[in-house]
Amino acid sequence: MKLAEVFYKENFSEIKWSPQAVLIADQYFKAYFKNNKFKVPFDTSKIIWVAAGEGLKKFESLDPIINKLVQLGGVVDIYALGGGSVGDAIGFLASVYKRGVKLIHIPSTWLAAVDSSHGGKTALNVGELKNQLGSFYPSAETWIVKELLSSDLVEKARGEFFKTLLLNHNQSWAQEFVVANQTLDQNLLWSLLPTLIDFKSKIVISDPYETKGTRVILNLGHTLGHVLELECALAHGEAVEQGLLRILKISLEKAYLSPENYKKFLKIFQKNKIEFREFSIFKDQAELCLKNDKKISKKNEILTTYINNQSYLTSWTPVEELLEAF
Ligand SMILES: NC(=O)c1ccc[n+]([C@@H]2O[C@H](COP(=O)([O-])OP(=O)(O)OC[C@H]3O[C@@H](n4cnc5c(N)ncnc54)[C@H](O)[C@@H]3O)[C@@H](O)[C@H]2O)c1
Repeated sequence: MKLAEVFYKENFSEIKWSPQAVLIADQYFKAYFKNNKFKVPFDTSKIIWVAAGEGLKKFESLDPIINKLVQLGGVVDIYALGGGSVGDAIGFLASVYKRGVKLIHIPSTWLAAVDSSHGGKTALNVGELKNQLGSFYPSAETWIVKELLSSDLVEKARGEFFKTLLLNHNQSWAQEFVVANQTLDQNLLWSLLPTLIDFKSKIVISDPYETKGTRVILNLGHTLGHVLELECALAHGEAVEQGLLRILKISLEKAYLSPENYKKFLKIFQKNKIEFREFSIFKDQAELCLKNDKKISKKNEILTTYINNQSYLTSWTPVEELLEAF
């Protein structure tokens, strides 16, 4: 698998478009194109607007987009502008349209810039269950444009940021963040983006199709987070934060993590206004969600990543044990 070339730019006008470009974009940006804040060097009939969100990650939502692509005809390079939902859904579409066309990601949320536009995972939901359909289809290019990334959305990327921080807590950039008791803001996140993306890329390249058990660490906090996302209608970012807090607690209970380190991490979460929240969930639904996790074994155990005093470890964990986390 070859991962995308990543370009970091200040302005939208710096993006390079291919002659075959078709832009599939979050309709949030319609107004920006209408008032010429953002422009493309091709006819606007080659822009397809979509409504972002989990609803876009449904098989049937792709139908009208496919029809528009067919009407346009010819060879297309698909540029996907939007957050993680647009990247996941349009990435999937690009991977199967005419058996795969060139895909270019332009992430417009911090979450997508940090995490979802790298690594080549595309995804659609099935019913209420997340990411049940998908493919491995990395973009050829990813354009990270600072002007697109709103400071209001930094909060939604905190989960993925803290995931990477915990996995790297022995690295100097992470230690500095923890020791200085820092708060994540737009400038810090922009300056750390290459570090965060490089880390993810190295892990993905070591296990591109998630068959060797190394890529699984990128799901730290996600297995439990996805249950909360589904059951309690939390946004992906907040669900991951809550999943991480639970994984830290279990890491302490299993004595992987010392009480000192646990307290140190809890303090930095609190400093960033991430508090442990209690939820009442239906155990049956949570169990169904866990049993549909892609990392489940025939023995109903899920390959789970925990944090230890050095870095992290993975261990097969029974579904019943994970249910206790709620
Ligand atoms: N493929 C992967 O590796 C991967 C990794 C992490 C998350 N994800 C997926 O990403 C999705 C969550 O990502 P997301 O939060 O970016 O979702 P999203 O695409 O739903 O965007 C969230 C909201 O932000 C709005 N928005 C987009 N850009 C904006 C901007 N610049 N300013 C203001 N508003 C803007 C959207 O219209 C939407 O309302 C989930 O579906 C999750 O499963 C995928």
